[in-house]
Amino acid sequence: MLSHLLHLQGIESVVLESRSQEYIEQRVRAGVLEEGTADLMIESGVGARLQREGLIHHGIELRFGGAGHRIDFADLTGGKSITVYAQHEVIKDLVAARAAAGGKIFFEAEAVSVHDLDTQPKIRFQHGGATETLDCDFIAGCDGFHGICRNAIPPEVLRIHERVYPFAWLGILAKVKPASDELIYTYHDRGFSLLSMRSPEISRLYLQCDPDENIAEWSDDRIWTELRTRMATRDGWMLADGPILQKGITPMRSFVAEPMRHGKMFLLGDAAHIVPPTGAKGLNLAVADVRVLTRSLLDFYRHGATSGLDHYSDTCLRRVWKVQRFSWWMTSMLHRFPNEDSFQHQLHLAELDYVTSSRAQATALAENYVGLPFDEPYS
Ligand code: PHB
Repeated sequence: MLSHLLHLQGIESVVLESRSQEYIEQRVRAGVLEEGTADLMIESGVGARLQREGLIHHGIELRFGGAGHRIDFADLTGGKSITVYAQHEVIKDLVAARAAAGGKIFFEAEAVSVHDLDTQPKIRFQHGGATETLDCDFIAGCDGFHGICRNAIPPEVLRIHERVYPFAWLGILAKVKPASDELIYTYHDRGFSLLSMRSPEISRLYLQCDPDENIAEWSDDRIWTELRTRMATRDGWMLADGPILQKGITPMRSFVAEPMRHGKMFLLGDAAHIVPPTGAKGLNLAVADVRVLTRSLLDFYRHGATSGLDHYSDTCLRRVWKVQRFSWWMTSMLHRFPNEDSFQHQLHLAELDYVTSSRAQATALAENYVGLPFDEPYS
């Protein structure tokens, strides 16, 4: 996305992607776009398929105590919505746009090290069996939680804030029509579960499990039985099952590294921050970083102004911490914690009762879910 937006402003970039094109275009990841993320795709000319195939949702359901409660985003946020469109589809659209514009993307190019971050940055990378060096004005470290960029910041400068949760998500992709038109987040005595989707024929479902859960112990039948139990309502709602196409376990953590800039290197997305998936924010927060960096680089190349670049980390972190707060809150509200006593359990239920009965609290959830506003346009 950064490479695409920079190209639209006449700024050249080279993308080093450690995986193959096939891998990144198929790997199942997130699926919910904030309104601002979908708008940015559309405004920047990569939203045609999203507009055809994306599913626009105007609310979600919170389910607990055997009953569902709708949070009406459109009503609470002045007409805003979210779009269900898989992250790997976003990637396909962006790769196609870069390829059509003659953009440089090296696949299976593994960055090994970064150098001279204060003067003339260089990236050493391996590609096709050879080690090569890329000289650049700036490095955008979009290399994920396990990438090399964050750790190139000297340890005496880098600060880490972290929370690891005592549970994980077991996620499945199933060939069955979604049992609801909107996402359902369920709090149950046996743990959290979530019904999501990828298309009118494909469901995506998750259930809370132990972090060291062995996926081999989860037969398809056991997964469906557990999902059905957690999602059951008092009025007999039934979860339809179908063939499971894929299953996996996602650990849950909150993580922030600061500063998000060191010299002429900038960290974006998971390289700088991880959110637990409960608020569906990971991709959206990465795109928010992209907006800030695009704007800052534009100011630099157009006007020689460095203030955007100088404030990049502070600007991004203001949003990062608000989104961390929201993701932590959703996660805490909707999961069963190990050894949860009756006091904590009752607080969970009271919180859910409050969110679904107070317009003020429902609005707080809705405005975060559809995406907090941006201070500035991206260009
Ligand atoms: C998903 O569809 O993968 C999904 C949806 C909502 C979440 C997390 C994941 O909160």
